[in-house]
Formats: sequence, C-alpha cells, structure tokens
Amino acid sequence: MDKTIIISNRLPVQLQIDNGSITAIPSVGGLATGMKSVHSGGDSLWIGWSGLTDEEIPDGLAPEIDKALAKHGSSKVNLTSEEVDGFYYGFSNRTIWPLFHYFLEYSEFELQSWETYKAVNQKFADAILKVAGQNDTIWVHDYQLMLVPQMVREKRPNISIGFFLHIPFPSYEIFRTMPWRKEVLMGLLGSDLIGFHTYDYERHFLSSVRRLLGLEVSFNDIYLEDRVIKVDSFPMGIDYKKFSEAAKKHDENKTGERSELQRRLDMHKESDPEAKFFLSIDRLDYSKGIAKRLNAFEYFLTKYPQYKEKVRLIVLAVPSRSNVPQYQLLKKEIDELVGRINGEFSTVSWTPIWYFYRSMPFENLIDLYTSSDIAWLTPIRDGMNLVAKEYIATRTDKTGVLILSEMAGSANEMNEALLINPNNFEEIADTLYEAINMPVEEQKARNAILQKRLERYNVEKWANDFMTSLKNQKLIDHSYK
Ligand code: UDP
Ligand code: G6P
Repeated sequence: MDKTIIISNRLPVQLQIDNGSITAIPSVGGLATGMKSVHSGGDSLWIGWSGLTDEEIPDGLAPEIDKALAKHGSSKVNLTSEEVDGFYYGFSNRTIWPLFHYFLEYSEFELQSWETYKAVNQKFADAILKVAGQNDTIWVHDYQLMLVPQMVREKRPNISIGFFLHIPFPSYEIFRTMPWRKEVLMGLLGSDLIGFHTYDYERHFLSSVRRLLGLEVSFNDIYLEDRVIKVDSFPMGIDYKKFSEAAKKHDENKTGERSELQRRLDMHKESDPEAKFFLSIDRLDYSKGIAKRLNAFEYFLTKYPQYKEKVRLIVLAVPSRSNVPQYQLLKKEIDELVGRINGEFSTVSWTPIWYFYRSMPFENLIDLYTSSDIAWLTPIRDGMNLVAKEYIATRTDKTGVLILSEMAGSANEMNEALLINPNNFEEIADTLYEAINMPVEEQKARNAILQKRLERYNVEKWANDFMTSLKNQKLIDHSYK
C-alpha cells in the first residue's frame, strides 16, 4: 500500500536511557505536537532523530530503541555527537534559526557546520530512499532539513515530495546574507510543493528565488528546467478537539481529583477571587521575547500600581537547545530578571511572578490554560505560535483574553485577540489594563469567533489541504512535461 513518509529532525517522542532502560518523553515544540495528531490518524511512517547520539546508545540496546520508536510509528536516523554538534547545535540553531528570526547578530556562518549540515541532510535523504516506494509521498519538515528534497529528487525524479517550513522565511535582504543561500534554495526546490504558515513568508521566499536564482516565477509557480514547483501558504492549526475536550473534562471534574498544580491555583483564586492570572508559555528561546515581557510586566506594575497584589504572571519556560551559548545567556538573564522583579515587588502575601523552568505534562498545561484569565504571548518573531490557539481552544465558557504579538504568524488569523507590538511597553501596559477590565460579554464575543475559526481550520484540515495540494501539483507537473 502507498504510504506517506513524514521526515523531520524531531520525532514525536524523545528517547532517554536511565540505568539501561529506555523512556520515551513527548517532544515539545509546534512541529511535534501538531504533526503527532496527523500521524496518529493515518498510515504514515515518521523518520527522524531519536534525541540520542550514537555514543549514548550502549552496545546491544539499538534493537530496543528501534522497538520503542516503532510503537510511535517512527524509525530513527543515527547521528554521532559530532554530527549533532555541527548539524543541530551548529548550522540549524546557530545559523538558520537566528537568521530566519531576524536575529542577524546571533547568526554564525561557519563552513564546517555547513558541511555537517549537508552530510546529515544526506543521511536523512538516504533513510527515506531506503524505505520509499515509487508511489509513496514524502513530506519533509522544517529548517533542519532544507536540502533533503533535492537529495531525494536526484535519485527518484518522479516521486512526490512536499516541504513545509515551520518558521518564518525572512525577507530577501536578510536571506541574501547567508553564504550558502543558493544551495539552500536549490535544496528546497527539489520539492513539488513548498508550504509556509503565512502569505508573507511565501512572498519572501518567491522574491529570493527570483532575485538569487533568476528563475521564472508566475503567481506562485516556479519553473525549473522541466518541473513546476508550487509555493503556497497553509497556516497550521491545532488538534482543537483534543484541547477543548480536555478542558471540558477538567471543568466537569471540579469536585474530583485535582492535580497539585491545580489545587495551588484554586487556593490562590479562592483567597482573592478578584485577582488575575496572566499566563505565558514558551520554549526558552530569544525569539519568544520572554525577557521583554518581564520588563514590560515591571513597567505595567509601575504604571498601574493599583494592580500590585492583584495580578500574578505565570511564566512557563521550557528548556530548549541548552548547548547553544545564546540560550544559556538567555536563561541567566531570565533567572536574574525574575529574581530582581520578585525581589522588588513581592510582599509577605504576594509573589508577582511564578516561574517554572521545565516542560509540563499535557494535564498541567490544561490546568494552566483553563485557570488563566489572560494569556500574554509576546514573541519578537514566531513562525506561527500554537500556544495562542491552544489557550483559546480551552476556554469552554468563552471567557479569557488573549494578548498576542503581531509578529507571530498566528496573529494573521487571530484578529479578535488584542494584538500588540512586543517592543512597545506603553502599548503593552495599556493593553494589560484593557484586558483586565474587558467586559465578560466582549471576551465571549471575541472568543466565540476565534473558537469557530480554530475548530474549522484545525490541524487535520491543515494536513489535508497540504496533501491535496501536493497531489494536484503532481498531476499538473506531469501534464506540463
Ligand atoms: N508544550 C509542551 N509542553 C510544555 C509546554 C508547551 O508540549 O511544557 C507545547 C505546546 O502545547 C505547543 C508547543 O509546545 O503545542 C509549542 O508550540 P509553539 O508553536 O507555540 O512554539 P514552538 O515551540 O514551536 O516555537
Ligand atoms: C520549533 C521548530 C521545530 C522544533 C521545535 C523544538 O517549533 O520549528 O522544528 O522541533 O521548535 O525545538 P528543538 O530544537 O527542541 O527540536
């Protein structure tokens, strides 16, 4: 039977070895959480990196690892620690990630990491070629694997290949600064269909293709030798049902067993029903604007002192890429900021910021989403931001206010949220004030529209739209030849 092969650096689970036994923990990040829902429903095989380097896998444990991954419909590409350094911590997260998020000053252009990136992309391509039948569909994901489409195409000229980029594609002026810009574009052009979250990213990509490769581009079709490559935007949705049903269950269980976290949240609500919880959830990443958010919170407490002891900011920062120096520095900065602001404003009965540096299980995420009056997300750049969508999906009674950075891809589809510029503290402080004082009827009216849209454009629809477009493209491409 023909199958779909999903290929990404992260698999739906990460493996860890403790005392010789293997544990699988769910991967975090939008790609893994979103694709997991698509993958669990169909006949797909997911190929990726297990999270363990070859050196970390004891002799004889490899078959167990394969078995553990097979339970999740996955199979692994083996990477040495040197490859992980150059490919993952190096080119992917010290060159592409900062560059594509407009952090030019953080981007390093090192030939050695580029060479490793190419070699590892070839490994992923080989893993596909080993299992792919002629009629299978290959779906490649994200910035870690931008050369894979061309590498597969070289060996299988007629196989159907789709690529989706989960992060922004920057403007030509930014992209052109990368020494290997043409190779990256050519790598992507091995696909039949290239998808982005927003129309702006799509436009930036087309402009780079036109200006750097001089190829003919007509509307969103690129002509390359005897092939036509389609480029389009597909804003990724969430598994709406999963979040809304978990929230409903959570509501129904008010008198039943509550998690420790939920009991604490309830206790604080009971002690002061007027108090408001602000919630922020992100991987600890400089693109998410966490430090700016903390500074803006301090500014808010100074501008509107009447809210001291009345509001509480919950910061869930999920550890991420901690071998990259910029992430280590950011961790230090945030630890210090939280310490300073809490030190400055805390009273015997009030700590303004609750800071968690860890990842939380799904049940606790639902506790946080359903207990927070305001979700406050201020990325400086973000391909999409699924947390914003998840928060809205859990608001069963339709109350709650979402404050969202206009720099997040999701802002394009969430006009009913309060959109802010993450660099404008004055605007942010006033928006927090507006959110606290927003009449319940207005909250409900805004969220009703958002929920309807998110329910309709869920992750399943996103995947189906992409796949349908890929199928159609294949037909058009053949007739063109
Ligand atoms: N998430 C998670 N565990 C946590 C915190 C967050 O699994 O402890 C999930 C969250 O539910 C969301 C994803 O991580 O689905 C983050 O995706 P988003 O698009 O917001 O940002 P990304 O991390 O992909 O940049
Ligand atoms: C973003 C990227 C994903 C990545 C995720 C988590 O969502 O688009 O490709 O998997 O962050 O980052 P990590 O480096 O832990 O895979």
